[in-house]
Amino acid sequence: MRFDEDLLQRELRALRGAQPSHGLGAALAPALGVAIRHFEQIGSTNDEAIEAARRGAEHGTLFIADNQTAGRGRRGRSWASAPGENLLFSLLLRPNLDVRTASRLTLAVGLAVRDAAQAYSRDAARIKWPNDVWVGRKKLAGILVESQLSGNRLDSVVIGVGVNVLSRDLPSELADLATSLALCEAPDGAPELSREGVLARLLIQLERRISEFEQLGLAAMLDELRVHDALLGARVKVDDRHGVARGIDQNGALVLEEAGGNLFRVETGTVEFA
Ligand code: BTN
Repeated sequence: MRFDEDLLQRELRALRGAQPSHGLGAALAPALGVAIRHFEQIGSTNDEAIEAARRGAEHGTLFIADNQTAGRGRRGRSWASAPGENLLFSLLLRPNLDVRTASRLTLAVGLAVRDAAQAYSRDAARIKWPNDVWVGRKKLAGILVESQLSGNRLDSVVIGVGVNVLSRDLPSELADLATSLALCEAPDGAPELSREGVLARLLIQLERRISEFEQLGLAAMLDELRVHDALLGARVKVDDRHGVARGIDQNGALVLEEAGGNLFRVETGTVEFA
């Protein structure tokens, strides 16, 4: 199915009209997705957004694809998705952040994805540090944030998001590991499921979260990250370290309690349940 830009705009107008005004920044934040570049097929929306950033594309430009032939995940992994079924997009930001802080954006984006997804699922959508959103023990969405520098200065940030929306028949090798919104039990009064509706909710959440992050940093979101932390209290293995996940700190690190009670800050890695 082809992504319907008109439907996205209708969904956005309906949601923005219904949105209560809240204190922090939303009114000041430039809208995301004002410029949209839609591709029926592309290598990777992140690659396209990075290239467009080099050519001077504006803050908030959205790159969305029905299909990717070279979708990328973290740590050189690939991101596969059935054509026309799921959300595959990248947002180009020119944020007011320094280089170190920008990498922590992943968790703020995770909260936005989580909040948008929750409208469609009776079961809790949670953040799995550092860049996933899970429902139960299955991955619903992945986030890939990539920064572009100009000397030491942050020039732009590309936020790539893949959300499994309509897929029901996941490839057998993924069936135990991944899920989709279509496979989640919908809560009473859930909106009708469409890629455009999910993206509209997500853009609104992203506007709020990015603005909050620019003004207050991750510290302002630590309580929410704790409430929605898929790993909190679980025995986990991060590369070659074992321990109990004790939450996320204000620098975006995962706090691991190792045998003997030592607290170790994990700054990067892949977490598995032990
Ligand atoms: C991960 O889980 O490792 C991150 C996956 C990110 C996938 C999205 S799909 C849209 C955008 N374009 C890409 O090539 N990757 C991101």
